[in-house]
Amino acid sequence: MDLTSAQVRLEPLADRLEADVMALAHLRDPDRPGWSRQVFGEPYRASRAWVRERMREVGLEVSQDGAGNIVGVLPGGSPGAPPLVTGSHTDTVDGGGRFDGMVGVLGALELVRCLQESNTRLTRDLLVVDFLGEESNDWGLSCLGSRSLAGELTPDHLRRTDTSGTALGDRYGQFGIPPEQAMSADWFRRRRPHAFVELHIEQGPLLENTNAQIGVVTAIAGIQRLLATFTGRSDHAGTRPMDDRADAMVAAARAVLDVQRTGCGAPTHGVATTTSLATGSVSPNVVPAEVEMKTEIRSIDSSWLSLAQQQLVRDIANHAQREGVDVEFEWTNDNEIVQTSTAIQDAIARVAAAAGHSWRAVPSGATHDAVHMARLAPMGMIFVPSRDGRSHCPEEWTDFSDVIAGVQVLGSTLLDLDRANRLSVRE
Ligand code: GLV
Ligand code: MN
Ligand code: MN
Repeated sequence: MDLTSAQVRLEPLADRLEADVMALAHLRDPDRPGWSRQVFGEPYRASRAWVRERMREVGLEVSQDGAGNIVGVLPGGSPGAPPLVTGSHTDTVDGGGRFDGMVGVLGALELVRCLQESNTRLTRDLLVVDFLGEESNDWGLSCLGSRSLAGELTPDHLRRTDTSGTALGDRYGQFGIPPEQAMSADWFRRRRPHAFVELHIEQGPLLENTNAQIGVVTAIAGIQRLLATFTGRSDHAGTRPMDDRADAMVAAARAVLDVQRTGCGAPTHGVATTTSLATGSVSPNVVPAEVEMKTEIRSIDSSWLSLAQQQLVRDIANHAQREGVDVEFEWTNDNEIVQTSTAIQDAIARVAAAAGHSWRAVPSGATHDAVHMARLAPMGMIFVPSRDGRSHCPEEWTDFSDVIAGVQVLGSTLLDLDRANRLSVRE
């Protein structure tokens, strides 16, 4: 059928989608809290077989690429044309929820059902991708599958070890994905997509607070991660006078407050979080000599991000010096700030308004596979509201009426883009 996007009426069904989301949620790690299904775990392996089966059921041609991504293809009328790509991830954080990532994969499958039921044939192939391991993991690396596709998975990454000493590359191998294949998965670089659009829950409170049903994402925050190592002096905790200590724990505690103050000073969307403090000291009667602190800062404003880094280093070092403690800093960059395509922003806002959904432009403080797909194609993201802005926790929830609105907007946006001529990556 040859219809314009305005003429195609997509009618995604909430019951069908809810049944899929709940079925996938139950493929979880019973020994962990919430709805845990972490990358490389056995529940994740089982869930991927389930996802492949669902993809086949809705009529997609299914394969797994060298990077470990599951790819379902809905062939279009012009097989040679650059394809449309959508999708997200089905792994979770430890103690995570049922919606983060899943909505983008299962919502896309519901969209494919609607296209089939309405006999709507796209001009371009539509690819639905379940990207391998999006959440940050024990190796401190997020977005494994999409990172590979963008050519950004490096030998250094694969040499990183987790707390048990296992290298990331070895873990890939144990999971059945040859690591050298993960590094050379370049099929999208050879067949550039026309556009990538990801549907995701907002994971924050902006949409709910403004009664907007659809978020048009403008930019995805960059992430700088800090490992600060504090070295003081161990002493007897019962005898060493308070004014004569080099207590690494006290210096680290002051640093936690420095991090908090830095985040509170961000002018636009900027946040700073200390995620862990670890000390080698196990004795209850020894002044701690060494503490490792892990912190991350995020923003969509690159000048704030680099100023915040400098200010943090200065404040933490000054406070540590006053405690007589040395501190070393090691920064790693997880993601650069990425702007979404303005052409895709416009398309999302237009189709949302035409369908009667309230929408607003929002930044994304969370990172996404879309960051890496933006290296390969014009990229856009559609957000739907998160109840109480909660995410990365078992209580994470989005009403299915909102998820369905997101699927409709995703469908209409892709139909719109299907007809558009070549978009430029930064358009
Ligand atoms: C992923 O959800 C992240 O933003 O860390
Ligand atoms: Mn996610
Ligand atoms: Mn997440």
